[in-house]
Amino acid sequence: MSRESYGPRTEAWAALARHAGNLAHVSISELCEKESDRDRLFCTEAEGLWLDLSRQRLDARALQLLLELAEQTGLPDWIERMFRGERINNTEDRAALHVALRRPADLPLGVEGKDVMHLVVAEREKMRALADSLHGGLLKGYTGRGITDVVNIGIGGSDLGVVMAVEALDRYRMPGLGVHFVSNVDGVQLARVLRTVDPETTLFVVCSKTFTTLETLNNARGVREWLMQRGGADAVAAQFVAVSTNHRAMDEFGVAPERRLDLWDWVGGRYSVCSAVGLVVALAIGWQNFAAFLAGAHEMDEHFRSAPLDRNLPVLLALAGIWNRNFLSAGNHAVLPYDDHLHRLPAYLQQLEMESNGKSVRRGGEPVECATAPVIWGEPGSNAQHSFYQLLHQGTDPVSADFLLPATSMVDRQEQQDLAAVNCIAQAWALASGDPEVSNADPHRDYTANRPTSLILFRQLDPATLGKLIALYEHKVFTQGVIWDVNSFDQWGVELGKRLASGLQASGTRDALPPVIAPALAKWRSWRR
Ligand code: F6P
Repeated sequence: MSRESYGPRTEAWAALARHAGNLAHVSISELCEKESDRDRLFCTEAEGLWLDLSRQRLDARALQLLLELAEQTGLPDWIERMFRGERINNTEDRAALHVALRRPADLPLGVEGKDVMHLVVAEREKMRALADSLHGGLLKGYTGRGITDVVNIGIGGSDLGVVMAVEALDRYRMPGLGVHFVSNVDGVQLARVLRTVDPETTLFVVCSKTFTTLETLNNARGVREWLMQRGGADAVAAQFVAVSTNHRAMDEFGVAPERRLDLWDWVGGRYSVCSAVGLVVALAIGWQNFAAFLAGAHEMDEHFRSAPLDRNLPVLLALAGIWNRNFLSAGNHAVLPYDDHLHRLPAYLQQLEMESNGKSVRRGGEPVECATAPVIWGEPGSNAQHSFYQLLHQGTDPVSADFLLPATSMVDRQEQQDLAAVNCIAQAWALASGDPEVSNADPHRDYTANRPTSLILFRQLDPATLGKLIALYEHKVFTQGVIWDVNSFDQWGVELGKRLASGLQASGTRDALPPVIAPALAKWRSWRR
């Protein structure tokens, strides 16, 4: 990347900084009054999603400059490079081709020209066969009884996306199948799940791209032991499925060859929900619904690739984020879905955005010259109104937010969903405009607000829509990574903690305690039973 195409050094960036100065004392309300065509300028409908940026603290000129920034940083070319399967994950020398995972079988796509669709389709077929045989009552446990429960064992990208999707699509769940998740290392979830499931009728899916992750391997070993005690090796062979790139480790673990699903190094963990990692989702909602989910994500991929930047939903969402983070200094971004089905969306987006773009060096290793990913957090809207919205409205730090709102109730309670909708829109209004009736007379009630928010509205939360939302955010993250010139597909920052934990585990009480952790270690050792 040349000097001039690095985001903070572009002409557009400098112009944006100047323009942000001009807008510093202009409120969102004033912008809305001045620009009567903000709905046309800032609201975009595509692929069944309606993105409303009209309550962002930017005007037409700012948006135009942001679009120029995207052009000047070479975004269209980067999009093509991703779709061409170039090794854009430079620090790991890998492609980032998650778009292949939801692509129709007959549309070739490859890593550096080498088609991968036959690989993708083969794993898809295996997933489909497993899902169909489970739902057809043909998948049996070691005593010949049909499967009643599925437990996904995985963490990070092998957990957050699938938990979020299974919760989001609860309305589409296959009747009579219990679905559980075990991720944390502390054994609490594992103990809870093993208390409730039947060893003769439970299928365990071990999901780990690397098959080396401490949490997942410990939980999986715990289950294997539990199952061995009850049904021996037959039970393990019949009731374990694994998803990984690591064939040797699956061998060593004892997963039957016909019970393995493949992944590839060009699928990042947090971008993997459409791969075989999504098996538990397919088992939970059935193949037809899972296929609709993939198709939705693919539609958004095509939109991202082909729509002009000024009508491109992921690009527009990303640019609003760049404006808030880099020109309005908002270091916090809240994700606020007004549908409880999306209660794990904030956790999923925390990994997607913060693990992807929480970086301080550029692709080439030089220090970044601007702020990168904000802190992401959130909760379903109505609950959150009664907990942390106070800070959004009157706290000292600038915060931006995304509201997500389905128009239709998925649980046949439209009147209540309408209440959710009016709450959502009222909060967006309050955050933008503050209270025109209360002046500075009572400072506690002073409500200047002026908080920028986006609204993503859709008809209903069905599998296709969820697929679109996931792809929307994946491509938003990629767009921001391009502008910040960070590699959105590696995560070196998490390695040190893993290494230190393994060292501590291995050293036991033998080694001298490093001063930085000595008091904590000594106290813990004295208290543990
Ligand atoms: O610790 C971070 C991480 O490497 C994530 O990027 C990944 O999603 C997670 O661990 C789990 O990794 P795996 O699927 O290899 O078990």
